[in-house]
Amino acid sequence: MENRKRQKIAEGNTAEIFEVEENKVLKLFKPGYSKSSVQHEYDNHCMVSRIVENIPKLFEPIEENQRYGFVMEKVQGKSLASLVQNDHTFDQAMETFTNLHKNWLMHTVDGAVPYTKWMLNLSGEESLDGDLADKIKCLPSGNTLCHGDFHPYNIMITAESVAVIIDFANICKGPKEYDVARTYFLLKEAVKGKSVAELYLAKMKLEYRDIRTYTNILEALRKYEI
Ligand SMILES: Nc1ncnc2c1ncn2[C@@H]1O[C@H](COP(=O)(O)OP(=O)(O)O)[C@@H](O)[C@H]1O
Ligand SMILES: [Mg+2]
Repeated sequence: MENRKRQKIAEGNTAEIFEVEENKVLKLFKPGYSKSSVQHEYDNHCMVSRIVENIPKLFEPIEENQRYGFVMEKVQGKSLASLVQNDHTFDQAMETFTNLHKNWLMHTVDGAVPYTKWMLNLSGEESLDGDLADKIKCLPSGNTLCHGDFHPYNIMITAESVAVIIDFANICKGPKEYDVARTYFLLKEAVKGKSVAELYLAKMKLEYRDIRTYTNILEALRKYEI
């Protein structure tokens, strides 16, 4: 695969995406991402494929020049983020986004890592400030399938208007309010000063007090995330 001509079609925070065949892409993680972290995302992707419809089909793992990745089906479409950013499509895109998240949160899972473990692993429990680790350990458990990064850049819309959810690095299980808090937190960070996060929360039929415990901890954890 290394020597074949291939075109980079996208880049995220963690990886570059190359087209490798007409209907396949390679998600190649940036240097420094360990084999085990990429394997973890691969395993998550596999698990989610068994639970949720319209997930890109997963093919083989790849290792080249000490970089790791995997091949998956290419989604022919555009990011939902482009529709959220356009004033003409904003309302419909937010409706699509919240409906997709509500549907996603109807799934339960046993095999995924608990969200509290994901939080504790961000920096290694020992290096968390003060009583943060204790606060995390006191959070409620849950078995809702949480995406952990449910934001418009991780949703693609095909020409046939099918929504395809991607990027399963942070899959975990927890209370559904945790995943809503995580999205609220990500939206607030991405569009500072705008009320998109508040609109999202209202459309999810939740109030800030329902997610406050989680957002406080996510804010405290921000400095530990890569
Ligand atoms: N299967 C795919 N088909 C087409 N484009 C994809 C596919 N997977 C990812 N992309 C594109 O690459 C971008 C980055 O991929 P993503 O898996 O979200 O990586 P990161 O973990 O770096 O955010 C996505 O926002 C999307 O535009
Ligand atoms: Mg992404």
